[in-house]
Amino acid sequence: TRQILIAPSILSADFADFGREIRAIEDQGADWVHVDVMDGHFVPNLTFGPPAVKAFRRHVRTVMDVHLMIAPVDPFITAYADAGADILTAHVEAGPHIHRTVQAIRAAGMKAGVALNPGTPAEAAAHLIDMVDLVCVMTVNPGFGGQSFIDMTAKVRSLRAMIGDRPVHIQIDGGVDPVTAPLVVAAGADVLVAGSAVFRGGSVDAPHVYGANIRAI
Ligand code: DX5
Ligand code: ZN
Repeated sequence: TRQILIAPSILSADFADFGREIRAIEDQGADWVHVDVMDGHFVPNLTFGPPAVKAFRRHVRTVMDVHLMIAPVDPFITAYADAGADILTAHVEAGPHIHRTVQAIRAAGMKAGVALNPGTPAEAAAHLIDMVDLVCVMTVNPGFGGQSFIDMTAKVRSLRAMIGDRPVHIQIDGGVDPVTAPLVVAAGADVLVAGSAVFRGGSVDAPHVYGANIRAI
C-alpha cells in the first residue's frame, strides 16, 4: 500500500505568525508544508511572493511545496529556487508552453509539479508524466481556502492508470477533509493538501488540535 502524505496549506494559518505556524504543523505530523502563491491575475486573490517564501524557508524542516497560481510562471522560476522551494508546481492553464516551464523548474534544481484545474482533463498531463515529479488535481477552482470539494475521482483514476508505478505523486488540493480524503486515496492519490481541515479549531497555542485534525484526514 501507498504511503499517504499530508501537506497542510499555510493559506489557512495566521498570516502574522507564519514561523510559529509552520513549526506547529510540522511538530504535529505534517509531511510537507504547502505554500499557495496567488497573483490576483491567474486567480482572483493575492497571497505572497518570493521574499515571503524565502522567509518561510527558515522555518521549514520537512519539504517546502510551492503551488504557483500565477501567470506567467517562467519569469519567477529562479526567484522561487532562490527562495528555497523543494517542489515547484505550475498550472497547465497558466501558459502555452508548459514543457518549457517544467524543464526550467528542473534546471533550477527543484522538483517539478503540474496542476490541473477542475475543468482540465487528465489528458492535459499525459505528455508530461515522464517529465514531472507530481501532478496536482485541483478539487476546487483555485483562489481561496475553505471551498467545497468537487469530485475529481474519475480524473484521479485516469492519472493513476497513466502513471502506474512511476515515482510521480498524485496530489489533491481543495476541500480535502476526513470525508473526502478516503475517496481520492481509493482512486490513487498519495499527497493530500488541506488548509481549513488542518487549521480549524487550533492555533499556535493549541497545536494539538492541528495534530488531531491531521490524524483525522
Ligand atoms: C486553493 C489552494 C489550496 C487551498 C486549500 O486555491 O490551492 O491549497 O488553500 O484549502 P482548503 O483545504 O481549505 O480547501
Ligand atoms: Zn494549493
